[in-house]
Amino acid sequence: MSDPSEKSGSPVPEVRQAIVTGCTRGIGEAVVRRLAARGTSVVMVGRSDTTVRRAADRIRAAVPGADLRPESADLSLVRDVRALADRLAETTSPDVVINNAAVTADVRAHTDEGIQLTLATNHLAPSVLMRTLAESGSLRDARARFVVVGADPAVLERFPVDLDDLHAQNARALSRVPSMRRFAAYARSKNMNTMFVHSLARRLTGGGITVNGAHPGVIAHTGLSRGAHGLERALTTMVRLNPLRKTPDQGAGNPVWVATDPGLHGVNGRFFVDRKEVATPDHTLSPERCEALWQLSAELTGMQP
Ligand SMILES: NC(=O)c1ccc[n+]([C@@H]2O[C@H](COP(=O)([O-])OP(=O)(O)OC[C@H]3O[C@@H](n4cnc5c(N)ncnc54)[C@H](OP(=O)(O)O)[C@@H]3O)[C@@H](O)[C@H]2O)c1
Repeated sequence: MSDPSEKSGSPVPEVRQAIVTGCTRGIGEAVVRRLAARGTSVVMVGRSDTTVRRAADRIRAAVPGADLRPESADLSLVRDVRALADRLAETTSPDVVINNAAVTADVRAHTDEGIQLTLATNHLAPSVLMRTLAESGSLRDARARFVVVGADPAVLERFPVDLDDLHAQNARALSRVPSMRRFAAYARSKNMNTMFVHSLARRLTGGGITVNGAHPGVIAHTGLSRGAHGLERALTTMVRLNPLRKTPDQGAGNPVWVATDPGLHGVNGRFFVDRKEVATPDHTLSPERCEALWQLSAELTGMQP
């Protein structure tokens, strides 16, 4: 579980409680394991009681005595995320909140609330959860670090968010290759994550809460490419066969570092790859575009703009 690139000798800031989403497999499960190993009590958010309990059992087997609290919610449903966020705002005081859950889904898949599945899960869920916690009375005056697990800005450069088509319904504009369209919609949602980080960071400036983005690296053997076909499947297979591929535990390293490293105290609105700050694409930086996305997201979720 230890990572050779981890800094040694630096004082470990106290992270008493963390909330982590999408922790029933892949990178999220590894994030919880790393936090639990340093004595942090973790609220594990997963889709169902059963999958969260199974993941918690695996983590306790690796980290005896791990202090884990299961929470379940379908993060693709705004009503579920709002209920979860209200519950967590009342019952927790997290030092760290890591939004990790995400999907790559068919662009035609919509939730029963009429929202495209990738948009709902990858962008609207973290925006409702983090906004609710940041605006709640219990955290307003607290110190906390929020981390949104994003993706590689160098890859995302080519997938600007279309503010007139958040639901990714213009299929040809996503990609001329049909099998790559779900990846293109996923990539746009990861740019939405970055734009959300910039917008929320502006609002949090001067307070005790910070928000930053973190790329885990390209990680084989996670569930993210479930359902891939055609060219996306071929590319996924290449990642899986690449001898330099990273494990989910290595993928957890950068997000956990951004959430806990003492050197990042007060750092807000940045994005990190391999523990280094990197620039995000120009199309994620425009305050006008970020505010337009904030407004559209508020309309879709019923949050105050
Ligand atoms: N893998 C990579 O190479 C890579 C590269 C760049 C960025 N990332 C980012 O890293 C993060 C983790 O990805 P991963 O590769 O570890 O993927 P993963 O193995 O598919 O894990 C995703 C997690 O999110 C949960 N989740 C998805 N939809 C949900 C919903 N509606 N409600 C509740 N939970 C839900 C999944 O639960 P279920 O199992 O129940 O679906 C699972 O626990 C994502 O933000 C991804 O964008 C990954």
